[in-house]
Amino acid sequence: MNTPQHGFATRAIHDGQAPDPRTGAVNVPIYLTSTYELQGIEKHRGWEYSRVSNPTRDAVETSLASLEGGTTGHAFASGMAAIAALVTMLNTGDHVICGDNVYGGTTRLFTQVIPRHGIEFSFVDTSNPENVCRAIRPATKLVHIETPTNPLMTLTDIRAVANICHEHGVPMSVDNTFMSPYFQHPIELGADIVMHSTTKFLNGHSDGLGGILVASKPEHAETFRFVQKCTGGILSPFESWLILRGVKTLAVRMRQHDENGRQVAAYLAKHPKVQYVLYPGLETHPQHELAKRQMSGFGSMIAFEVGTRANADKLLQGVRVITNGESLGGVESLISHSATTTHAAVPAEERKRIGITEGLVRISVGIEDVADILGDLDQALAKI
Ligand SMILES: Cc1ncc(COP(=O)(O)O)c(C=O)c1O
Repeated sequence: MNTPQHGFATRAIHDGQAPDPRTGAVNVPIYLTSTYELQGIEKHRGWEYSRVSNPTRDAVETSLASLEGGTTGHAFASGMAAIAALVTMLNTGDHVICGDNVYGGTTRLFTQVIPRHGIEFSFVDTSNPENVCRAIRPATKLVHIETPTNPLMTLTDIRAVANICHEHGVPMSVDNTFMSPYFQHPIELGADIVMHSTTKFLNGHSDGLGGILVASKPEHAETFRFVQKCTGGILSPFESWLILRGVKTLAVRMRQHDENGRQVAAYLAKHPKVQYVLYPGLETHPQHELAKRQMSGFGSMIAFEVGTRANADKLLQGVRVITNGESLGGVESLISHSATTTHAAVPAEERKRIGITEGLVRISVGIEDVADILGDLDQALAKI
């Protein structure tokens, strides 16, 4: 089933996940098979070898393409494998514009690996679309952004940047990991490709890595399908199934993440030990109006400043309900120190320039009882 006329929660439960035609099982089986019986030379039932396609992976690809409003999904072993696959659409001599605050692993790939193949990157503050316009060159073949950014929660106006990209014939990709398709639809706003670390909200239970590229143009679909087959960094059937199970509750989880996120942000904003809070749902966020326009919720990713690395350490060691750990988007609340974890690969000078300070802490607010999350923050902040 692929049913654009149905609502989001219905599509999250049914698209790509029709009852098994053979047995009627309401859940897509986990097809633990590397290969398939052929019916003769060049005769098969649609599957030949699982690096190329597997019915469980097909299901998650269909599901996420539907939720993002794209045409095809292409699942990879992790978010980074998906980003690595994304840049295989480029050739030596090409130029890429990337946001200057993206996940640290993306920065590492785009500064330490891909440039070795003769591809050049410009890192610009895409929150001002003019910067994208200025950075475009004839060799520019991709604009890649994250909005909101990890961890500074800076927004980029997707429609404005997409318009600039289209004027210049440059494809645009959006890492939509922080918002999930429940709150933000980059393709609807003009982006060509959406990328996710499915490890986060889409899986939702911190029990499997994964990544997806959702394409909206046939040429990108063809490239991504080909790269799955050629490089083989595809998502396993079991981890595909974990995402299928996760997305069924995406709508209810995201609503609760958002509700808890708003309350935690409001609490932190008033706390005397917290110098500032970065959360698009707060009226003090400089892009609050854009957030209201471009997203249908604010989510549960919050960054806040506690002044020093020592204070951050006390807070992270003090939490009891919340877990001190990297990653995000699971049902449990996670808190982390961006400078030494997710963004350790970004040079200290660059971190300082963009505002990833030693006192900056990021929280992924889970869906526990919000009173327990607030109580935990209260006792842990008291240790500072
Ligand atoms: C925004 C964002 N994009 C991409 C990634 C990379 O995903 P993965 O860890 O699944 O490789 C992450 C990981 O934290 C992330 O936060």
